[in-house]
Amino acid sequence: MADIQDPLGSIDVDTEQQEVLLAASQHNIQRLRQLIRANEKPENPVNVKDPETGYTPLHAAIAACEPDTEESADAQQLPNGVPNGEPTPALNAPSSVVDRGRDTVKFLLQEGAIWNDLDANNETPGCLARRLGLDELYDLLVDAGVRAEMLLNRLDGYEEIMDGEEESGEGAAGVEEKEVQEDQPQTEPEPGDSTNQNATESTEPAVSSSRYLQSNLSFQHDRLLDQDQNGVMMAWETDIMAKSTKALLPTTGLRVLNVGHGMGIVDNLFQAQQPSAHHIIEAHPDVVADMKSKGWHEKPGVKIHEGRWQDILPNLINEGETFDAIYYDTFAESYSDFREFFQEQVIGLLDPDGKWGFFNGMGADRQISYDVYQKVVEMDLLEAGFDVDWEEIKVPDLEGEWSGVRRKYWVVDNYRLPTCRYLD
Ligand SMILES: C[S@@+](CC[C@H](N)C(=O)[O-])C[C@H]1O[C@@H](n2cnc3c(N)ncnc32)[C@H](O)[C@@H]1O
Repeated sequence: MADIQDPLGSIDVDTEQQEVLLAASQHNIQRLRQLIRANEKPENPVNVKDPETGYTPLHAAIAACEPDTEESADAQQLPNGVPNGEPTPALNAPSSVVDRGRDTVKFLLQEGAIWNDLDANNETPGCLARRLGLDELYDLLVDAGVRAEMLLNRLDGYEEIMDGEEESGEGAAGVEEKEVQEDQPQTEPEPGDSTNQNATESTEPAVSSSRYLQSNLSFQHDRLLDQDQNGVMMAWETDIMAKSTKALLPTTGLRVLNVGHGMGIVDNLFQAQQPSAHHIIEAHPDVVADMKSKGWHEKPGVKIHEGRWQDILPNLINEGETFDAIYYDTFAESYSDFREFFQEQVIGLLDPDGKWGFFNGMGADRQISYDVYQKVVEMDLLEAGFDVDWEEIKVPDLEGEWSGVRRKYWVVDNYRLPTCRYLD
């Protein structure tokens, strides 16, 4: 876009960026609209970034609502990413500022602002709103995240259908291509890594399923790690497993199916409830070997199915097996795998009065991602015919747990334990 302030029409990228950021920080929707309409570049100007702070217009609009005005004005760099000295009239009237901030955030989102772009402080606009105690703005960002993720998930499904069409032809090219990609070593961005441009990574698996299933595992007393030091399972999750067991198997003598044995924590708790049938599906050969060495195949009611649930469950359904409780806790699988699990499989396996649950770790390394995914999964569960109850559990202080683990996969304060049933 040509600099619209410049009668000669010369191009000044920094000025344009700063103008959009300034208008956002001033909650000047009219000016933002002008700048957006005058834009001639392919990039959407609502997604410009301040080169120093990494602020997008959304960050700038939110930061300008910061309640503590004096400190902010004194700071070397104003919180909106605009160099000190620029006017930020919004700073003097906090309550009306928040109203105008809300309108500006809504406007920017309508104009296509990315909800989860990270600034130099590794914060999305929503993280910033939450840190500043701006709940209303935070909720707007959560809703924007839900809309974006639902759309992306639908597009994923659309791509799968397209792959399926190719598959039914000669070459199954789509599938093979994916396998090759999955086998590439993963480079997982570390928290704070500046190459990490938005927060969606927190809902992506840390490693691909095929790489994980081929890697050697190391069993330690309080953790199970893959060869890249990803935490597959950790003992601090024991309380979560205990509460999940209580929710799913409240009495003895029930039939339970567990998908993913890991350290065997939840299966030990299930065993303590003396189930009449206890099926366990486990895909990793090292875990299966560990189970056998511990005599799991000889425990009462236990039936071990070696392989991926994707391959095992259709057979169980054909055999007419049903369960009072089902638990899902796998590793290195995506949200679309999980959605396939409950859309396609649970319905064929769960008794009409049964309950099922899952380890709810999606997006748990960032509060806003956790909140977004809670809503996304709730909607998808509803669409699949399930109701879900959430129980909040305080997670203990995990400082000190992560030494030797590649990625701190849990950051949020509370675990939300899901218990799902068929809709009435
Ligand atoms: C997080 S651990 C489960 C921890 C378990 N809940 C516990 O209490 O110890 C995940 C397990 O799922 C297994 N797994 C991963 N993908 C799987 C798949 N597609 N089918 C079956 N098991 C899978 C992994 O090998 C691993 O043992």
